[in-house]
Amino acid sequence: MSKTMLEVNGLTTKYITRFHEDVYAVDHVSLKIEQGKSLGIAGESGCGKSTLALSLMGYYFPPLHYTSGDIIIDGKNISGMDPDEVRRNVLGTEIAYIPQAAMNALNPTRKIYKFIEDVILAHNPKANKKDIYEMARHRFSELNLPLEALDKHAVELSGGMKQRVVIAISTILKPKVLIADEPSSALDVTSQKVVIKMLRDMMDKGFIQAMIFITHELPLLYNVTDDIMVMYAGQIVERGSAKEMVFDPVHPYSRGLMRSILVPEEGTRDAKLIAIPGTPPNLKRPPQGCRFAERCRYAQPACRYNQMPILDFDQGRSYRCGLSVDELREIYRKEDEADAQAVANPVESDGPVRLTKGV
Ligand SMILES: Nc1ncnc2c1ncn2[C@@H]1O[C@H](COP(=O)(O)OP(=O)(O)OP(=O)(O)O)[C@@H](O)[C@H]1O
Ligand SMILES: [Mg+2]
Repeated sequence: MSKTMLEVNGLTTKYITRFHEDVYAVDHVSLKIEQGKSLGIAGESGCGKSTLALSLMGYYFPPLHYTSGDIIIDGKNISGMDPDEVRRNVLGTEIAYIPQAAMNALNPTRKIYKFIEDVILAHNPKANKKDIYEMARHRFSELNLPLEALDKHAVELSGGMKQRVVIAISTILKPKVLIADEPSSALDVTSQKVVIKMLRDMMDKGFIQAMIFITHELPLLYNVTDDIMVMYAGQIVERGSAKEMVFDPVHPYSRGLMRSILVPEEGTRDAKLIAIPGTPPNLKRPPQGCRFAERCRYAQPACRYNQMPILDFDQGRSYRCGLSVDELREIYRKEDEADAQAVANPVESDGPVRLTKGV
């Protein structure tokens, strides 16, 4: 039987702003990742992906605060641990986080091998600098990174190379779980592929045991991760295998995320407006019922009042919605039929109107 590398039960965290307002950014999140597996987290801006990533590190400092829940990495519960102990014994070895835009945050005046030195010395102050340099060379060659990059400054590297170097630095201590937050978003398509391949290779070579990959784009995850979880307004709304989530999303928000990208017209950002009108709720005052109800075209009056728990409905699949899976699938079937008809008879049909760029 495979081993669970990361198990999270009911994790709830919040920001407390300087005006003493609570922002409920991660609400009762539970998840599990087996050894050798990867989990993608998708959702639009502000839904709590990065806050969840930060929260999973178990290392809290204001304005982020832990409220409740367990984070268990390879059998060790790190929630409630003293921050000093987390820094010494968890960060970098049990779990590592590559923050959004980390590659642009590298201090431009330092050479790359110095960052590696920092990570290793923070973990083991007695480590010998010459040994660290040799170890860095060895790791770079194992990862097919050019050894010259070690003696360069970040500004001398291309975007794709910078991101690969950041991944190498973050994983130098072979963390069991790696969280990569939008690691490919700022890159061109070729560099994106190289970065994604590097992350997969790292898993194959055993440098990491499990991975979380965060992105805005649900379809991007299809070729990258084993499972996908969709987050909305601080909560998980659906989870399944990558294939199921991309080809058979059940939650109206997941379906909206998928359709927003697959609309063929130019300018997918504008297309997003068609699939999911509106914006996510203010997390200082989350809605009483379903958090997506306000934007959901299938919402019933009760959805605005009733909080739905997340429910399992199939092997490895769960969703959070007031409508049954059968009801949702039937609605989608009819919608797809109407869409197909609209494409076949563009004039007579009163099918969905598609906005074009600039409208
Ligand atoms: N330092 C902070 N103080 C207060 N609220 C915050 C802080 N950082 C984030 N938030 C709020 O927490 C919520 C979740 O933000 P988060 O950055 O986790 O979203 P995200 O899904 O990562 O978005 P993006 O895709 O833009 O990176 C948002 O409502 C955001 O406004
Ligand atoms: Mg983010």
